[in-house]
Amino acid sequence: MNILFINGPNLNLLGKREPEIYGNESLDQLIAWVTNQINTKENDVYWFQSNSEGKIIDKLHWALDNKIDGIIINPGAYSHYSIAIRDAISSIKIPTVEVHLSDIENRETFRKISVIKDVCLSQITGLGKKGYLRAANLLLNKN
Ligand code: DQA
Repeated sequence: MNILFINGPNLNLLGKREPEIYGNESLDQLIAWVTNQINTKENDVYWFQSNSEGKIIDKLHWALDNKIDGIIINPGAYSHYSIAIRDAISSIKIPTVEVHLSDIENRETFRKISVIKDVCLSQITGLGKKGYLRAANLLLNKN
């Protein structure tokens, strides 16, 4: 399978950003850890991060033409209001799992709402980097 991981705004600051919420590991460390757990002989994984909504949407469109079989996305704050990212996910019809490092249900009220949740196969929250792995296993076991 070809799996694409997308991380949205401010996730490039992992390790420096509110470590009490998001931990001390950098995004590169998270990527290395998750990638190491996946069988990369049988599966290809691609990682993308952007702070801009349009670039995330362009990457979702790119997935259509590049034989991506499953997507794992942490859209950061865009999860809570980007109808454009939601529309992109429902347009491309590639199985997608939404991941959040933190437990968005138990934080500020505005984080409880995800406008992309119901166009995704599943939503995984509050497991830190393990959430990305659980999402990957969910997609891999589906095929
Ligand atoms: C986040 C949760 C969002 O509410 C927040 O805006 C983020 C990170 C998470 O991974 O827990 O940027 O998506």
